[in-house]
Amino acid sequence: MNKITIAIDGFSSTGKSTVAKQLAKHLGYVYVDSGAMYRAITFYAMQQSFINRNSFNKEALINDLPKIKINFKLNKTLGFAEVYLNGENIEKQIRTLEVSSFVSKVAAVSEVRKKLVEQQQEMGEGKGVVMDGRDIGTVVFPEAELKLFMTASAEKRAIRRYEELIERGDKVSYEDVLKNVQERDYIDSNREDSPLEKAKEAIEIDNSDMTLEEQFNKILELVKMTIEDRK
Ligand code: CDP
Repeated sequence: MNKITIAIDGFSSTGKSTVAKQLAKHLGYVYVDSGAMYRAITFYAMQQSFINRNSFNKEALINDLPKIKINFKLNKTLGFAEVYLNGENIEKQIRTLEVSSFVSKVAAVSEVRKKLVEQQQEMGEGKGVVMDGRDIGTVVFPEAELKLFMTASAEKRAIRRYEELIERGDKVSYEDVLKNVQERDYIDSNREDSPLEKAKEAIEIDNSDMTLEEQFNKILELVKMTIEDRK
């Protein structure tokens, strides 16, 4: 089988993980949610009180990095892998707006990025992987055969994320979610180490007005063309 690497980058809440999961399932590939790994380290920093609204003790977090083990385990019922922090399943805890409000600060720390990028590259060694994030096509897999860059208007993205959080039972306001989406876009795009930017060869997909089905079909077509081209 002619397996490729699919790198999906883009702004927050652009539906990257939804389409990445659909693709992985359809193609029999492994899906890796790189954002979950940054969220897991953020969750650790919160548990240790290294980060709060007023301060961030980067040095303490950097010192603790060797103690932090992140891995994924397949949840057969859900059909995708969940994230574990030092042996504990933290899939639910990392999706809160509170974690979202700190994660971009943690993800701007070079030592954190170095650790996670190494692990991500190992996970993609065998190809047949769909990974989504901010620097997958630019830094993690610059040789990926297919690179996508997802965008949508901030308002559309905030509505999607707001609905997801309400569905989970979280008490959040649309305004706070929109603010978080905009803040993270700003920090992620302006940080010094591996800022979010479109890789030259990446195909941009604005899904503001696309249904999930339209988006999936369009991207699957691109995957098929890429695999065909390599034969
Ligand atoms: O799902 P959503 O788009 O809201 O975000 P995510 O993929 O869970 O990523 C959370 C945060 O982790 C981002 O806002 C980035 O700050 C950081 N991240 C990163 O820096 N590099 C990656 N490859 C993935 C995520």
